Amino acid sequence: MYPDLQKEISAFERRTPKSAEAHKKNLKRIPLGVASNYRAYDPWPIFVKEASGSKFRDLDGNEYIDHNLTFGALMAGHCHPAVMKAVEKRLSTGTMFGMPHDMEWELAEEICNRFPVEMCRFGNSGTEVTMHAIRLARAATGRDKIVKFEGAYHGLHDSALVSVKPHAPDYGDINAPTSVPGGLGVPKAALENVKIATFNSLATVERRFKENTGQIAAIILEPILMNVGLCMPQPGFLQGLRDIATKNGALLIFDEVKTGAKLCWGGASEYFGVMPDMICLAKSIGGGLPLAAFGTHKSVMDLISQHKVFHGGTYNTNPVSMAAGLATFRHVLTRENYAHVEKLSKKLADGYRKIIAKVGLQAYIAQAGANGALMLYPKEIVNYRDWTTIDVDLWRHYWFGMVNRGVMAQPYWWDEQWTISVQHTEADIDKHLAAFDDIAASLAKAQQERAIPEPAAVAH
Ligand SMILES: Cc1ncc(COP(=O)(O)O)c(C=O)c1O
Repeated sequence: MYPDLQKEISAFERRTPKSAEAHKKNLKRIPLGVASNYRAYDPWPIFVKEASGSKFRDLDGNEYIDHNLTFGALMAGHCHPAVMKAVEKRLSTGTMFGMPHDMEWELAEEICNRFPVEMCRFGNSGTEVTMHAIRLARAATGRDKIVKFEGAYHGLHDSALVSVKPHAPDYGDINAPTSVPGGLGVPKAALENVKIATFNSLATVERRFKENTGQIAAIILEPILMNVGLCMPQPGFLQGLRDIATKNGALLIFDEVKTGAKLCWGGASEYFGVMPDMICLAKSIGGGLPLAAFGTHKSVMDLISQHKVFHGGTYNTNPVSMAAGLATFRHVLTRENYAHVEKLSKKLADGYRKIIAKVGLQAYIAQAGANGALMLYPKEIVNYRDWTTIDVDLWRHYWFGMVNRGVMAQPYWWDEQWTISVQHTEADIDKHLAAFDDIAASLAKAQQERAIPEPAAVAH
């Protein structure tokens, strides 16, 4: 570890002794001391006491401007007043019924009016809805296989936990990536049905369809790959996928768990002008409560109506989450709020770019809607393997440096990105940029002393 990174980690340790203590206690009863593996990092994760608006406070009383926002699930910011009011009202009139109620069609209307789907069903997490979407696509086509992109994350079920973060010795040829299980316990049979392609390479997708003629039910993707920092689809890529899916009688599934609420009012189909067959929504549509949905054409949803595909869930459409969702669609995810977030997003990205140029850091800023990331690469990355060339210690230097200056610039892990909420202000962005300005020169200096390997070549 180089000296400036060591200094930042020592400062972090001095600032967060109560988190260290709490983590030690958790470790006794909870694997890794955290409730989701993504929350674990060395030397210990920050433990949160409370949050409101654009900020949170840790157990030691340190305050942070929050751009983690629960891995991008809080475009509303913490405790958005409209969401809180709607939730509070529901807390005393029954928190779950397991029976239908009249907020269901209201929220279904909101979703079907905003996104290119005719019908939807609800769930509680992204994992759930990508699982149901894939099952429905398999049922609709009578085929078992799907195409998924290397490095993409669609949740934790067996069809999704394949080639999420594969290691170089396992992942094979970039033009025909191997299906690599995302840990022990993913059955070999599941791997057989998940064919891996390379993001931004239509040739690798075509190849999968040729090798598996008449067997591929769907292509599932995040329209912007957000499990590798922020990786944009290159011009023509999404339309190319649309064409390949149509030509082969497969469905195109947009996993919009992140992009649906945060990219713009109508999500990725509005932003890119490409229409999927199915969309999966979660995270920011709930305004801070667990809420998810999958939507598609009526002809596909008829499989559920006809009892051919089974979908259920005890907690589905619980009135507290539904009230939060309705308030979020009506009062948070408004065109005015998107304009506000877009303005802050541009200010943040422009500010970073100026500082990067000033100190001569080899990096660029990727930005789309409410999301963005400092990408520590010499040129734009276009796929997962490009992403793996990052200098991890340099990124850690950035993250701990920002945290020590009161800015959680993004979740820990260099595959994530920042989120700007509707409650962030110009002053928050100024503080964020001041923190980056404070550490940028030492990042540039460290980088000059370290080398970055060249990424592998890929067919397009
Ligand atoms: C694109 C995408 N899909 C699916 C998921 C899974 O969502 P959840 O954590 O709610 O199960 C995530 C979570 O990060 C995600 O980013």
